[in-house]
Amino acid sequence: MKQLDLLYQGKAKSVYRSDEQGTLIMRFRDDITAFDGEKKDVLGGKGGYNTEVSAFFFRYLEERGIKTHFLGMIDPITMAVRDLTMIPLEVIVRNVAAGSIVRRYPFTEGAPLDPPVIVIDYKDDSRHDPMLNDDLILALRLTTREELDQIKANALAINELLKDHLDARGIILVDFKMEFGRRDGTIHLGDEISMDSMRLWDKETRQSMDKDVYRFNKGDVMTEYAKVAKRIIS
Ligand SMILES: Nc1ncnc2c1ncn2[C@@H]1O[C@H](COP(=O)(O)OP(=O)(O)O)[C@@H](O)[C@H]1O
Ligand SMILES: [Mg+2]
Repeated sequence: MKQLDLLYQGKAKSVYRSDEQGTLIMRFRDDITAFDGEKKDVLGGKGGYNTEVSAFFFRYLEERGIKTHFLGMIDPITMAVRDLTMIPLEVIVRNVAAGSIVRRYPFTEGAPLDPPVIVIDYKDDSRHDPMLNDDLILALRLTTREELDQIKANALAINELLKDHLDARGIILVDFKMEFGRRDGTIHLGDEISMDSMRLWDKETRQSMDKDVYRFNKGDVMTEYAKVAKRIIS
């Protein structure tokens, strides 16, 4: 497959057109950002760890009946993906209270959320990704009612599958963010499932093993990413 022009350069990945109809090339860069891009760095190896974990989980989910954009690996930081019409939503599933939900609402950090809580934000950096509700999503014509129901059902099913895998490796899936898109009239999971998009705690120590290590200077980010990636894919 040949890489053609750059379609989109985001905060952490670059997306290219390819010479195959309906297939894009997605490269995971070493750029890391937090707090709406206020904090940013380049950490050698980050792209590789996130690609490895994302590819692992996309395959794992596909094998269990979830439709994703993943087609295959091109090199250790590059994957071939289905070209989706992305829906500008950040779909977050929370199993344990942490991060913004604790700052905004009277939850205690670390409190279990059972059943899991779905939070959907509008993906728009210039508006700081404001939280939506069903009525706003429908009023903004971001999805149809059926698509929104399908997205939520998918999000919960993906959560259970990821939780199963991580729990068996001594890792708590605190919360994670997904992006979905349309293809042939069906909702597909797109983007990435990585240490940048999941909040992961060690079950024993409850230490962060994800981008919070970077956000809050909790240790050596790449050492943690390397360790957790190894635990996840083994
Ligand atoms: N399968 C796909 N088809 C088309 N676009 C995608 C697909 N998967 C992810 N994207 C988009 O590609 C971009 C990935 O780059 P990223 O660095 O994460 O960008 P951002 O800074 O917008 O989060 C995102 O805008 C994401 O919505
Ligand atoms: Mg992104």
